[in-house]
Amino acid sequence: MTFAWIEPALLRDFQAEGTDAHRLCTLEDGWVERFGRDILVSFKRVLTRERLLTELQSWADSVGFRFRRIFARFVPRKSEEREPPHLIFGDPGENLQTIATERHLKFGIDFRTGYSPGLFLDQRENRRYVRHIAPRRLLNCFAYTCSFSVSAASRGASTLNIDLSKKSLERGRENFVLNSLPTLDHRFIADDVRAVLPRLARKGEKFDVIILDPPTFSRSPGGKTFQVEHDFEKLLIDALEVVERDSHVLLSTNCSTLREHALEVMARYCLKATRRAATFHRPSQLPDFPPGAGASSIWLALR
Ligand SMILES: C[S@@+](CC[C@H](N)C(=O)[O-])C[C@H]1O[C@@H](n2cnc3c(N)ncnc32)[C@H](O)[C@@H]1O
Repeated sequence: MTFAWIEPALLRDFQAEGTDAHRLCTLEDGWVERFGRDILVSFKRVLTRERLLTELQSWADSVGFRFRRIFARFVPRKSEEREPPHLIFGDPGENLQTIATERHLKFGIDFRTGYSPGLFLDQRENRRYVRHIAPRRLLNCFAYTCSFSVSAASRGASTLNIDLSKKSLERGRENFVLNSLPTLDHRFIADDVRAVLPRLARKGEKFDVIILDPPTFSRSPGGKTFQVEHDFEKLLIDALEVVERDSHVLLSTNCSTLREHALEVMARYCLKATRRAATFHRPSQLPDFPPGAGASSIWLALR
């Protein structure tokens, strides 16, 4: 899979819609992303990093794009070996945090704290869809920095955010503040999604949009592992217990063995098991991602 550097017209489209966080280029074993004026180069081979850096300079010159810094990160096979990006161009004395915008919403970006800087660009279309639905009560499972919730809150939703990581939820809170959204209508629970969903069901809580975008693999502090291929089904069945009648559920994953078709097959099984009916919606292809790159997603519209 090779994807050329994005065209000047697409760059102008992003600018016009108030988005400065998007992909610039995708190769088989590396890609380049932009977060405001900062660049992140991800690579699986050193040769690819060198090629992307050379091409970046000529692309930037050709479209008149002036970047401030370049960060680079190695993409290891095992997620346990992931490390934060390194600064390879720019002033090392400058703050390693910045702000990126997507359709005029602001998101905090931090190149110090982890492998991922705070906003998953391949979820842009799903965040747009959340704004389009304009939910009343959104349940954001595996919330990370709460970008889905900020999108929903910008349309008036209240949200419940669940993530194992307190730090990520703290960054999520900051994202609300960045967008002048009061955090009063938003709850943050640092716990295992699998423990929280049954508690919500017992309390009779209901939501009209649920986001299920789990990691491929994780381990909770108690040592319990989550493996998406094995655990997604149970997760969806539990989520269907807290969903209202006319509602939407997003199923999304980066796991390469779970593409859209596999997600749909799994969803059909879970709907049958819980005697629910739904139609399926596949999000539009992102203009800065080649087909097959990024997360696989489907939306269920429950009746
Ligand atoms: C793929 S990211 C989610 C990205 C998020 N949906 C977004 O678009 O910004 C996975 C997140 O799940 C969290 N996580 C992993 N296992 C978990 C579990 N069992 N319960 C709750 N959160 C978990 C991680 O801390 C991480 O923030």
